[in-house]
Amino acid sequence: MEQKRIFGERWLCAGRAEQIEKPGKYFLFNTGSESLILLRDHKGEPHAFYNVCRHRGTRLCSELEGSLRSSIQCPYHAWTYALDGSLIGAPSMDDVPDFSKVDYPLNEAALVEWEGFLYVNVSDKPISLEEHFAALIGKFSQWRLSELRVARKSQYEVKANWKLIVQNYSECYHCELVHPELSRLSITKSGYNDLHEGSFLGGYMEIDPQYESMTASGRFCAAPIGNGGSETAGRVYYYSLFPNHLLSLHPDYVMTHRLIPQAPDSTLVICEWLFDALEMAGADFNPDDAVRFWDTTNREDWEVCELSQLGVASKAYSPTPYSPRESLLAAFDREYLSALGEID
Ligand code: FES
Ligand SMILES: [Fe+2]
Repeated sequence: MEQKRIFGERWLCAGRAEQIEKPGKYFLFNTGSESLILLRDHKGEPHAFYNVCRHRGTRLCSELEGSLRSSIQCPYHAWTYALDGSLIGAPSMDDVPDFSKVDYPLNEAALVEWEGFLYVNVSDKPISLEEHFAALIGKFSQWRLSELRVARKSQYEVKANWKLIVQNYSECYHCELVHPELSRLSITKSGYNDLHEGSFLGGYMEIDPQYESMTASGRFCAAPIGNGGSETAGRVYYYSLFPNHLLSLHPDYVMTHRLIPQAPDSTLVICEWLFDALEMAGADFNPDDAVRFWDTTNREDWEVCELSQLGVASKAYSPTPYSPRESLLAAFDREYLSALGEID
């Protein structure tokens, strides 16, 4: 049901535009039973092709990322597609009456670039991203997200349902116990949620004034992004973008998590640390301070998510009321139920 109503209908964050900067560079985004090939054609147009040969359905690309010179060839009977998806080679098919290659291009999913992120939608009738994302348009302009570049990427296989991971991200009720370092750097009971209902949820927490950013040292590990104005300085903003994208905006860098459910009790989490491209080009640039801090914090989170997964599978578990510090979880639950059509 989730695969059909949520991952089959909603806009999903698949990656960053820089992953397909050059024509022919591609990566796969696999969600449920769908696999998409994201690439840019020779005219510079980005595409999200279904990784499915039009002939007899064979998976075209198996490597998770790579470069295609000028075409995609099916490994079964050599039907060949140009980078714009058109069928350009189909051996022996000229003998088939009325067969015309123009009728069989690769099928395509909707793809939109938003703030440097590639968002895909596999619905037959996707809702417009511009409309759906209206509350976020311009909201993050101070971080110049489309100009940032990925300095580091980590993947985690978490033995927990994707919803437990979003829920864990959506509260700091657990922070004092689970994250001693995070609780030292930021004031865990501080902050304010400015998005508290619907598909996008979150707000900010204050960084302890003794520190500059959320890093292992507590110091900046790059110059502050943007104008360093009062909205970006001294705060970390945490937003969940339903269903699979978590966006954490720091004064000097941005961290994102993409969640890709693998099974009811297993989620692939791809975490990236984004920095200003000019900062990254500097001789003394080193993202380790930020990466180390969040890698530790991530692992602390995955551990409790996995314990939670084990517990909620028990017949002895039934939900209790949430605490006031879990208001975003209640909002997430409402959004989830409404996406499934269980409530209006
Ligand atoms: S299935 Fe792809 S060419 Fe036959
Ligand atoms: Fe946490």
